[in-house]
Amino acid sequence: MKPVSRRQALTLGIAGTGAIAVGGGGLLLTSSLPFRPETGGRLEEPVVLSSRGRLLELLLEAAPGQVTVAGREASVAAYNKSLPGPTLRLRPGDRLRVNLVNSLDTATNLHVHGLHVSPASNGDNSFVSVEPGGSFDYEYDLPANHPPGTFWYHPHHHGSVADQVAAGLYGAIIVDAPEELPVTHDRVILVSDISLTGTGALRPPSVAERMIGREGETVLVNGQVQPVLSAASGDRERWRVINACPARYLRLQLEGGQLQILALDGRRLAAPAHVAEVLLAPGNRVDLLLDAVRGTTVLRAASYDRGSMISMMGGRGRATVSGTVALLYLDTSGAPVGALPPVPSTGRIRDLRKEPVAAHRRFDLSMGMGPGMASAGMRFTINDKEFDAGRIDETVSVGSVEEWTFSNGSPMDHPMHLHVWPMQVIQEGGRKLPDPKWQDVVNIPAHGEVKVLVYFDTFPGRTVLHCHILDHEDLGMMGVIEAR
Ligand code: C2O
Ligand code: CU
Ligand code: CU
Repeated sequence: MKPVSRRQALTLGIAGTGAIAVGGGGLLLTSSLPFRPETGGRLEEPVVLSSRGRLLELLLEAAPGQVTVAGREASVAAYNKSLPGPTLRLRPGDRLRVNLVNSLDTATNLHVHGLHVSPASNGDNSFVSVEPGGSFDYEYDLPANHPPGTFWYHPHHHGSVADQVAAGLYGAIIVDAPEELPVTHDRVILVSDISLTGTGALRPPSVAERMIGREGETVLVNGQVQPVLSAASGDRERWRVINACPARYLRLQLEGGQLQILALDGRRLAAPAHVAEVLLAPGNRVDLLLDAVRGTTVLRAASYDRGSMISMMGGRGRATVSGTVALLYLDTSGAPVGALPPVPSTGRIRDLRKEPVAAHRRFDLSMGMGPGMASAGMRFTINDKEFDAGRIDETVSVGSVEEWTFSNGSPMDHPMHLHVWPMQVIQEGGRKLPDPKWQDVVNIPAHGEVKVLVYFDTFPGRTVLHCHILDHEDLGMMGVIEAR
């Protein structure tokens, strides 16, 4: 593997912010003041663009620019000048047309994370490259039986995904169910993180941050810090929480209320479930239901240890912990009003364990020291191979069910993500799961093993399987899957 060069480490995929100067002596920050976000504003939600007559057509421009982030002007990259980008609202059977315009100074493209659509030609094709100044017309046809739920979009140009997402490029996609649920408010809660200097410029990650996966210093909820919502007693909120952070894990807990899960990664559970916490790895989504009760409820992410590279760095380095952070406050007042009817259960969830398995595959994840490299050089591999867009790593048959085993030989967690087809998790750490559990990002704990089933129901074409710690993906932990 080639070493991470200073240039790579500094490239942000956006026009010069003026905040960094590289001389013979190295990197100088012209401003060493910390970024001071405004906190406690009322929660805002991104603009919603909805389909009409089975079609949603839009222009999506990825561009560097001045955008309000946490109440301050910041020089970031954004879609259509807003962070997050617009929310795209669709129905099963709709067509989505996106004219992606690249006004960045590096190549980009677009990925619709979790949508069950074709990966071929101008569909959800991660091999497309849209050069600076160029544009590309994407067209996605959602099947009539597409699961309703919460999905998202972000760039997927190999080598700069982490830089572009960390700079501010992401937005929500909602696929609506034909029938509405009894909730008072249905909201997008897009969580991202960003590192800004005191003047609002992006702070580039260090080489070490790239190796472990960069975590932004400021955690944003819809581009704000610790926003506040108010509700009346008896209201029921549906929060579509999206983890758009490049590497941060969100171990969600609710203080002063009960956490209730409606859906995971865009797929309903059989019935809403009460849990103490839910872990969102990068890329995961959870739809929460909150029955508002008088007082203040806090949605927070508790600290999560995602491993360490101590042993690999010759005893140096430390554990990588996504720290505790308060995300969102809900203030509820008033006397309870008539309760809403319960959210109906969906009934039976598909269970692939009843289907014949056509093939078994293993994916060994590892982080190894690169050949001839000192402390910084590291190889991020799947089955000992780094990503090569020109190679097909696995060929699967359309119409078949496969059992995949992910085995993590490294001392850090890796959240594995497959495009197009969701995965049914059947075994975690030697423990068989009693109920069907569907996800499109599945965390493989450090030194752990997880088994999943995948049904390649349709959509021939080439796509990817990768670690959703976006720096790891950019550094090579990605493989090519072809369905025939
Ligand atoms: Cu959300 Cu291939 O990524
Ligand atoms: Cu994806
Ligand atoms: Cu990883």
